[in-house]
Amino acid sequence: MFPQTRMRRLRYGKLKEMVRENDLTVNDLIYPFFVDETAAEKTEVSSMPGVFRWPATMAVDAAREAFDLGIPAVLIFGIPKTKDAEGSSAYGDDDVVQKAVREIKAQFGNDLIVITDLCMCEYTDHGHCGIVDFENHDVVNDLTLPVLGKIAVSHAKAGADIVAPSGMMDGMIEAIRFALDENGFENTPIMSYSSKYASVFYGPFRDAADSGFCFGDRSEYQMDPANGDEAIRETELDVMEGADMLMVKPGMPYLDIVYRIKQEFQMPLAVYQVSGEYAMIKAAAEKGWLDEKKAFYEACLSMKRAGADMIITYYAKELAEILKSGKQK
Ligand code: PBG
Repeated sequence: MFPQTRMRRLRYGKLKEMVRENDLTVNDLIYPFFVDETAAEKTEVSSMPGVFRWPATMAVDAAREAFDLGIPAVLIFGIPKTKDAEGSSAYGDDDVVQKAVREIKAQFGNDLIVITDLCMCEYTDHGHCGIVDFENHDVVNDLTLPVLGKIAVSHAKAGADIVAPSGMMDGMIEAIRFALDENGFENTPIMSYSSKYASVFYGPFRDAADSGFCFGDRSEYQMDPANGDEAIRETELDVMEGADMLMVKPGMPYLDIVYRIKQEFQMPLAVYQVSGEYAMIKAAAEKGWLDEKKAFYEACLSMKRAGADMIITYYAKELAEILKSGKQK
């Protein structure tokens, strides 16, 4: 009758902290932000309050906000002034991302890791992540690969520390690895968006990055949310092709995938708490239905528990502030 084992014994004060299995630290965080080539001033994304499109002239300021809080890495998205069918504003030496990377690296050197999102969808006028065959309404995998290689090299040339391909084309990691190596960037790591699902939770991002598509959706190259085993196969291919770091995206609805990928591949793993996850917490908090800080803290801590080593989150700065203050205890 008498409960011999009382789990509550260890749930008090300091003792509770001593037996805690997982914690968030500032070194887990990656701060994503948008650099807009045409914006004249910082503009708030309407579906993501607190998230801004930064004018190209302020890329260093955006990075500094993260740097000053001790966040080790930023992830840069570019919004170019011109778009075309081939996404050619994605790989010029003086295009939006390349310039931003150069300026940020000049400012912070090795004290801040600069990761670049490597995809075509923000740069194509049709909004798809590759070269499109309009007659068949198809994104042509193998014609896209050399373009991705070219973008990767241009990012590395500008000084990117890590490239993060997010387009879900087959063979993209190998194509990018070859292109980087051929151009003397054999030491540039690839963080692959290895299990990226065709998710409704990217909705607000498409507002932020102007990357809606003119026909269809991305479900013919991003993964079916119904599938779990497929994530293992996708990831295995990326590992064989040379990925150095892996990613699961989105985060909270896919923590089973995070767990499985970490168990299956003992490799550095990032989880992306995407725009829709951010927007949901924001919206509920604005209505007074959730304690915002506790909500994003718990969501991110749960990603660590599931197996994440790194968390890409629009809440990175707020999290860093909480961690600095020690108020999470
Ligand atoms: C580009 C890309 C997307 C996101 C990251 N990289 C959009 C998409 O695939 O549709 C989404 C990030 C977010 O929702 O926060 N391919």
